[in-house]
Amino acid sequence: MSRIRIPSSPPSLLLLLFVFVSCLTLITARQTRDESSYQKRDFHTLSNEDITKLVNLDPPQWNGVDEGHLGKLLIPRASGSQNNTLVQNYISSVFTNLGWHEEKTPFRGTTPIGDIDFQNLIYTFDPSAPRKIIIAAHFDSKWFPDFPANQFIGATDSAAPVSMILDLAEFLTPLLNQRKGRVDSGRGILKRDFDEEEVAETTIQFVLFDGEEAFRDWTATDSIYGARHLAELWQNTFLPSSHPLNKRRLSPSPSVLNTIDHLVLLDLLGNKHSMIYSYFRETDWLHAKMKSADERLQHEGLVEVEKGEKEWFGDMRMRGGIGDDHLPFLHRGVSIFHVISNPFPKVWHTLADDASALSLPALRRWNRILRVFSCEYLGLGPLSATTSKSPTKKTTDELRINGMHMLPLARTYKTIVE
Ligand SMILES: *[C@@H]1O[C@H](CO)[C@@H](O)[C@H](O)[C@H]1NC(C)=O
Ligand SMILES: [Zn+2]
Repeated sequence: MSRIRIPSSPPSLLLLLFVFVSCLTLITARQTRDESSYQKRDFHTLSNEDITKLVNLDPPQWNGVDEGHLGKLLIPRASGSQNNTLVQNYISSVFTNLGWHEEKTPFRGTTPIGDIDFQNLIYTFDPSAPRKIIIAAHFDSKWFPDFPANQFIGATDSAAPVSMILDLAEFLTPLLNQRKGRVDSGRGILKRDFDEEEVAETTIQFVLFDGEEAFRDWTATDSIYGARHLAELWQNTFLPSSHPLNKRRLSPSPSVLNTIDHLVLLDLLGNKHSMIYSYFRETDWLHAKMKSADERLQHEGLVEVEKGEKEWFGDMRMRGGIGDDHLPFLHRGVSIFHVISNPFPKVWHTLADDASALSLPALRRWNRILRVFSCEYLGLGPLSATTSKSPTKKTTDELRINGMHMLPLARTYKTIVE
């Protein structure tokens, strides 16, 4: 705004008003342009009626915070421990029963307390899809050397986010299977601005990180062991020549990292209070969509809002960020939405971060927010009667080429931001 000069002669009120309005217009125009250039994909907003149907489809079965999946995760589970393996086996059994593709990335890492065996767990609904959204959380809990601190549970950090992922996977699986059935038999829904076959090219992947916690004090080398390993592994895993991204002849050759449209990282959630800010301008719009999901759920009376907890999503657009599993991906150009409570829960890294720190209404609210957000991102809805055989069936190649327009080019956003 520095180029707008305030006239030196006594300005008339009208002139001042004019300058003020011009500034406003400039700001508004700028924001509109920014938002449209960052939003690289369609988002399929559901009607309030559909949201109600989704929420009622399969209500959470549990009536206490230690029931259901969460109950299986609320144990000390530091990386490399037997309990950590138990938790891994449990997560694996849930996804295997649901029929998801499983990938494990075992590796040995050097830590201040010696070498530790880590393993990330990765679950994909459709491993052949060319693009994906990732929703991630870490399943390890912080290691402490002595009793009683070594009984640290980390309920919000991040047993609850992992249980949200398991609940979400169970909820999404039938919807994803139904769509796959329609698309495979050529009966995908085709409406104005909506081609189910094309929409299905974006799959969902859940990444459960091991070794997020530092063994001593958080440093670049003592923290996020699993995430650092995976980001590097994917950077060096190049796509097969048959992958649609390879047709763009990118240089350097596209890697698995290029297939990630967005990485949504959940951390420090499940207690009564949450305050989620947006840290990255290119995903401000995803933050706005999640906020909108919460608002619509509240409007329809589908979530219980505890006293003083109406606003979980702050409008302030943060600069900088919070160190977490997203960093090695961010630094390699992946688009990040960091869903982390700021400030951290009061119980953070204390023995009090156990089942008693969690709130059942808050867990249910998160559960529903994530349902609506994921369905809208993926273009999924409750089974609708409006199906049609696509009259103008496109060839696979055309579809893929269309889909590719929406693929983010790693690192290009950096230029847009600056
Ligand atoms: C493993 O979990 C159990 C609870 O199931 C707990 O009592 C035990 O102390 C944990 N082991 C370690 C080494 O933390
Ligand atoms: Zn932690």
